[in-house]
Amino acid sequence: MSDTVFPVPADIAENALIDKDAYRDLYQQSVDDPDGFWARHGKRIDWIRPYTKVKNTSYDYHNVSIKWFEDGTLNVSANCVDRHLEKRAGQAAIIWEGDDPSEHKVITYQELYAEVNRFANVLREAGAKKGDRITLYLPMIPEAAYAMLACARIGAIHSIVFGGFSPDSLAGRIEDCGSTLVVTADEGLRGGRKVPLKANVDAACDRLSGHEPKVIVVKRTGGDIKMKDGRDVWYHEAAENVSDRCEPEEMSAEDPLFILYTSGSTGKPKGVLHTSGGYLVYASMTHQYVFDYHDGEVYWCTADVGWVTGHSYIVYGPLANGATTLMFEGIPTYPDASRFWQVIDKHKVNIFYTAPTAIRSLMGAGEEMVTKTSRKSLRVLGSVGEPINPEAWMWYYNVVGDKRCPIVDTWWQTETGGILITPLPGATDLKPGSATLPFFGVQPAVVDAEGNILEGATEGNLVILDSWPGQMRTVYGDHDRFVQTYFATYKGMYFSGDGCRRDADGYYWITGRVDDVINVSGHRMGTAEVESALVAHPKVAEAAVVGYPHDLKGQGIYAYVTLMEGEEPTDELKKELVTWVRKEIGPIASPDLIQFSPGLPKTRSGKIMRRILRKIAEDSFDNLGDTSTLADPGVVGDLIDNRQNRA
Ligand code: WT7
Repeated sequence: MSDTVFPVPADIAENALIDKDAYRDLYQQSVDDPDGFWARHGKRIDWIRPYTKVKNTSYDYHNVSIKWFEDGTLNVSANCVDRHLEKRAGQAAIIWEGDDPSEHKVITYQELYAEVNRFANVLREAGAKKGDRITLYLPMIPEAAYAMLACARIGAIHSIVFGGFSPDSLAGRIEDCGSTLVVTADEGLRGGRKVPLKANVDAACDRLSGHEPKVIVVKRTGGDIKMKDGRDVWYHEAAENVSDRCEPEEMSAEDPLFILYTSGSTGKPKGVLHTSGGYLVYASMTHQYVFDYHDGEVYWCTADVGWVTGHSYIVYGPLANGATTLMFEGIPTYPDASRFWQVIDKHKVNIFYTAPTAIRSLMGAGEEMVTKTSRKSLRVLGSVGEPINPEAWMWYYNVVGDKRCPIVDTWWQTETGGILITPLPGATDLKPGSATLPFFGVQPAVVDAEGNILEGATEGNLVILDSWPGQMRTVYGDHDRFVQTYFATYKGMYFSGDGCRRDADGYYWITGRVDDVINVSGHRMGTAEVESALVAHPKVAEAAVVGYPHDLKGQGIYAYVTLMEGEEPTDELKKELVTWVRKEIGPIASPDLIQFSPGLPKTRSGKIMRRILRKIAEDSFDNLGDTSTLADPGVVGDLIDNRQNRA
């Protein structure tokens, strides 16, 4: 099955921005002469002061430093808005589709300009200035895009926290980057249900020690919320008193654009820092070529702006290209499982980009839900977030795309800023389940455990050998953690944390994380984070968390929990622990399965042997490998007997 090749459709190849020859030539140029290549392509955005330096990067473990276009200056919001006014003032910049199908709104570039300027002035009025960190905790409403672009306009650094994170998680992120301002909404609306965003901000602020940020509140539902005098202001009231003109700040290419927290294998989430020039060049270029975006097309990425996909491929990439980007407030299954396809027909969507987990859940609803819609406007489909299993790929291709539309399976990460390994619709023959080939300027390699580069068809760990403009620059406030996390495992290379296979055609097949990170419905979760939430519960003595294969989510969260002396292992307590983790981190971290166990398999030096726990969670324990180094080999039998994931 996965050896089937789907050649580039003739009609796509004919009109594509990049065909097979162009891909080959441009890729070669990009690796033979990165400076020359990026000097040319950096000009795709507007610079206030043009750069004279292009690439200045070092992967040397003792001196990791990444700078692109460093002497150029620009403003990202001017690139996403102002520069399109001459040609596209009346064109839709954002099509907003509400949670309720009766609600939608079209925002032209002219309107976007006014909204972003006004929002920028409200931020300034609240005291924000260049370099300040502003936390955005917003639902998928146009104001989320306005707020991002407004931060960029005044040179403030936004840090978006996904609305599904708990007050504790939010507080941790506000504190880590020292945000002076939080922008939120009264409530969010998803699948007909309200999300208490402002109440969560209130609870987060209560947990902050030291400083109290100001809070700007956008009215979304009109729900009943508390406003704190002197701290909280309504956006719509503040906006009445400001002008709709705000001069964009001249920023250096290497000034920070945003921080986005993401989970790693250890410790607290890291503040991934992206800067302005290189990020925008890379986001806009990948958006144009990976989706073969042609002027006037309607493009829809179903992500939330709380994730990097929303940053690069709902807001910055598309808007820098003067595209029409659709922003969806709701969920795939509300009011029913036909919603995505209805929205595609309603707004004549040409390019559709979603996650395998959504595809798998919609597959379950039956073909009828898809085939009763037209989807004639569709031209290109995309997938992101986790490996797409060939069954889901085939369904997406046959049923959703009517066998006409190429699927771009895009591999990338929060850290990479933009897509690194991907087909191009007009250039790459497809194999279901493979992310295929590197984008321009990207040099992937497969290494063994010692870091030896493997040639030809092979399997191992995925590294990138040299920098690209969209790469993260540092972990906010902790450059050493940046170096240790990404450049210490294999010296001189960027380590992705993913395993992969490369076939005889040079195609990459991402096999998933090889570290203690799990991917639940395309959302990244550190096992260490869930463990520390569990052990914070007074009845829990110890916890170990691993991923296991889950039909819909890709991976589910499996928690082994040892209780305090005298505590009863009841079903009630399991429920209590799930609720506890949801409260500590957020619903995306809810354990799917909890197994109470009197002990965990540890080496004599006390290290938990996760390999064993993973196998038992997978319900495949025939070959547990060597257990002779365990301090107490007896615990394994008990773990197997009481496993929670039986076939
Ligand atoms: C991890 C990054 C990049 C935006 C969404 C996730 C996995 C992502 C693919 C893909 C196989 C994929 C990797 C990666 N991943 N895209 N097309 N095929 N795996 O961003 O939260 O930073 O997660 O998602 O494991 O390391 P993220």
